Amino acid sequence: MTPISPPGIVISGSGLWTPPYTVTNEELVESYNAYAEKFNETHKAEIADGKINEKPLSSARFIEKASGIKSRFVYAKEGILSTDRMRPKFPVRKEEELSIQAEIAIAAAREAMRKAGKTASDIDAVIVSCAYTQRAYPAIAIEVQNALGIAGFGFDMLMACSAATFGLHRAYDSIASGSARCVLAINPELMTPMVNYCDRESHFIFGDVSTAVIMEKAETVTSEHSYDILGIKAATFFSNNIRSSFGHVSHATDEDPYGWDKLFHQSGRKVFDEVSPKAAEHMKNHLASLGFTPDDVKRFWLHQANVNMNNMVMKQLFGTRWNEKDAPTIIDRYANTASAGVIIAFDLHNQDLKKGDLGMICSFGAGYSIGSLILKKR
Ligand code: COA
Repeated sequence: MTPISPPGIVISGSGLWTPPYTVTNEELVESYNAYAEKFNETHKAEIADGKINEKPLSSARFIEKASGIKSRFVYAKEGILSTDRMRPKFPVRKEEELSIQAEIAIAAAREAMRKAGKTASDIDAVIVSCAYTQRAYPAIAIEVQNALGIAGFGFDMLMACSAATFGLHRAYDSIASGSARCVLAINPELMTPMVNYCDRESHFIFGDVSTAVIMEKAETVTSEHSYDILGIKAATFFSNNIRSSFGHVSHATDEDPYGWDKLFHQSGRKVFDEVSPKAAEHMKNHLASLGFTPDDVKRFWLHQANVNMNNMVMKQLFGTRWNEKDAPTIIDRYANTASAGVIIAFDLHNQDLKKGDLGMICSFGAGYSIGSLILKKR
């Protein structure tokens, strides 16, 4: 096999900001079930007439077995567990104050900059890439850029579960084209505001988190743990199976801006069945395009939506020849954190790799979207 010559673009640091509060499955189920019982009691007559369906109860055992999630971190616990509210309660910030999303973006960014040994003056561009931004404009990235004192440019981009990988792809392209030498790519995922806590099928899925990555040219790298990027690959296929129709147009269509279709909803089983084989195929093809097979890869940092889905992807790549260390799980503690899951897995599980070891980051989810990077420890 011809050795791959890296294009000289490197991931030199990552950062993770974990919210201060946790909500366990047990806490969540207790409040959902109290809400459902109250709902059923209040709507007894309509349920008896068949006009509306009775709300079935949730179960912590089901959640852990079906998804691997045991607990999740949240920006604000207040409100989520209140049966009168069933959504988090965030503080209001004035326009002159730092926004919540910029605040958590900065927390992860500072950690990534510290690990990469970079200061604001080393960075040319800021990409904020996540499933939702808390406003349309000005871009959260520009607010972060301003707060950190970074020159150059910043922009926001949305790509649901693949926002982190697609954001890294844009960072890579910027460095490859010469429009930036060092990019800060951040994923401040505030998912809990868009969770329908009244829906048994999805009330358990998400947590909040923020992650960040520094990418730079090989010649400027000084950090202890760094990775040559050997290749990037993205693919998208349209599907309505994971959807959140929240957006500015509902002001003009007179729809409830927070109706069930505006919040996160999915056909979880279809997603599971359709996305797992596509992700495994994508990974195999990406590796093959650089002359590698899955066996050449020491560590897979996979999207963290469902532990069974990741097991299925690994089975499609390896049969039974793999273990937990090959593809670490963080979903048990963090739940699904949209695009940030792959970076949490990377951040917590890369230091033990040795020079020359290969790793692969791969996200897959809403869109559908799949994004991967093949890395080699320097
Ligand atoms: N508590 C108890 N039972 C529940 C439940 C809950 N909270 N939610 C659903 N169930 C029930 C269902 O009603 C169903 O009952 P039935 O068999 O009597 O009809 C049964 O459990 C199985 O439901 P199903 O939807 O088939 O579960 P699943 O094994 O597919 O797991 C997900 C559901 C959502 C965890 C799983 O499909 C998933 O994670 N898919 C991938 C989704 C994904 O990656 N999305 C990306 C988001 S970014």
